[in-house]
Amino acid sequence: MMGVKMKYLRNAWYAGALSTELDSGPVSRELLGDRMVLFRSESGRTAALSDRCPHRFAPLSLGRVAGEHIECGYHGLRFDGSGKCVLNPHGDKRISPRAEVGSWPTRERYGFVWFWPGDPKLADDASIPPYPFNADPDRFAVVYGHIDVAAHYELVVDNLLDLSHVEFLHPLFKQSGGVDSHQMSYGVEGTTVIANRLKPNVEIQGLARFFWTSPSKRFDARSNMRWLPPSALIFDLGGTECGAPVEEGVCLPNAHLIPPASEFCCHYFWSIARNRQIDDEESGRGLQQITQKVFTTEDIPMIEAQQRNIGQVTDILSLRPLTLEPDTPAVRARLILADLIRRETDAQAAAAE
Ligand code: FES
Ligand SMILES: [Fe+2]
Repeated sequence: MMGVKMKYLRNAWYAGALSTELDSGPVSRELLGDRMVLFRSESGRTAALSDRCPHRFAPLSLGRVAGEHIECGYHGLRFDGSGKCVLNPHGDKRISPRAEVGSWPTRERYGFVWFWPGDPKLADDASIPPYPFNADPDRFAVVYGHIDVAAHYELVVDNLLDLSHVEFLHPLFKQSGGVDSHQMSYGVEGTTVIANRLKPNVEIQGLARFFWTSPSKRFDARSNMRWLPPSALIFDLGGTECGAPVEEGVCLPNAHLIPPASEFCCHYFWSIARNRQIDDEESGRGLQQITQKVFTTEDIPMIEAQQRNIGQVTDILSLRPLTLEPDTPAVRARLILADLIRRETDAQAAAAE
């Protein structure tokens, strides 16, 4: 891919922000090579516009939300959520047809603000990746985080689909028995890639141990990852009494969302829900801090160092890396995504003829 303009899967929802980020006003963010401003109107509608006022090209993100609109902070032009100018406070107050900025469809769900960089007519709510535990406050409390990563987004996806690295990169989650005690299974369902790791009858370990209240000293642990193209991951993490149904145990389902910013930078939005101590804000804060620390001090430095080592290369497979068994799901995901991007590009080219 080196030297070729970066192609992304366009007809898909990507996370653009945490919901809470928009609580304090417009947010400027580079996403899929575009500089966007994301904001929430007073009535609660989200929008994503090009972060460049058509007047003097000031960033709209330096302005403010005014009712249902965003007001440019420089000379007060106002734009609605579709990017149309709705107010010109100057001169005869006429609104030029050129007073418009690009826009992307958005939705707010599961604690994230999603945008659709493809054909707006295809932006269907049903294809937002499902994180129902983030919208189930009777059963789950949720904590969130956001990290900027200086690496191609698929290196982060590789990391998340490769559960074997936990034993080596994360001392806190390391477990007696090592990788040999894991029962790994991989699968593909349509365009979804699955990487499951079961550890039956092991010492209480991992994040689940912070929420384990039973006197049992051993449990059945599971780490089940699902990848949905292009870069959304659903992680079912938990531990349960040996042999008991999964729902009865500690459930810590995660969201991992990796929208590209540009070729060699991406955003990493994550959440962890918990079905224990859901009213205890202190344990939520602790969970948030531990998780953010593990990502920022262990995963992300390794991923960024990988990118530095391979240089300006987006497709690690083009370098013919040594492939180990735990790489199976990540390789499958890369091939599926490349195929989806190729099909989308071909369909666009055919439609343009
Ligand atoms: S730069 Fe935005 S109104 Fe002038
Ligand atoms: Fe990790």
